[in-house]
Amino acid sequence: MPVIDSTQSEVDEILDNLPGRFGREQSSIIPVLQYTQEKFGYLPEPAVIGIAKYCRVSASTVYGIATFYAQFRFTPIGKNVITVCRGTACHVSGCQGLLDELEKLLGIGPDSTTPDLEFTIQTVACFGSCALAPVILINGKVHGRQTPKSTRKLIKKIKAPAEAEESVK
Ligand code: FES
Repeated sequence: MPVIDSTQSEVDEILDNLPGRFGREQSSIIPVLQYTQEKFGYLPEPAVIGIAKYCRVSASTVYGIATFYAQFRFTPIGKNVITVCRGTACHVSGCQGLLDELEKLLGIGPDSTTPDLEFTIQTVACFGSCALAPVILINGKVHGRQTPKSTRKLIKKIKAPAEAEESVK
């Protein structure tokens, strides 16, 4: 994927203006990765190279650390994040039906983001709320005992303002 110039310049600006608490050393790699991801929502490729230069280590060292921790992502995340539980309780209660409904509504499967960056669907093994199975999380809010119909309603509610805005254009 080609690197967009604006991303490169944004990364440069962030790294040039890092708060003083981030020393130029190896122990700063994780905090600087976290800080950069907070700014972009993910780690663009120029960030890995820039952080390597900043911390005076190789890009492969930074990449190795970033891929080791599940908290770091290399692709943009959608404005709305839907997390579907695929644990045993949710599986037997119909989580696949929720995923199928989401795919119908958004045109994407698990671990994907819509091209307009409005929605990301991800899955987890268990939220620890099995009594509410099947469970989904939308932008940090838990929705239990879901059915394809109730999930559709939730998504339509999120989409409604964006669609209303579209129709005004
Ligand atoms: S299996 Fe889904 S919340 Fe536990």
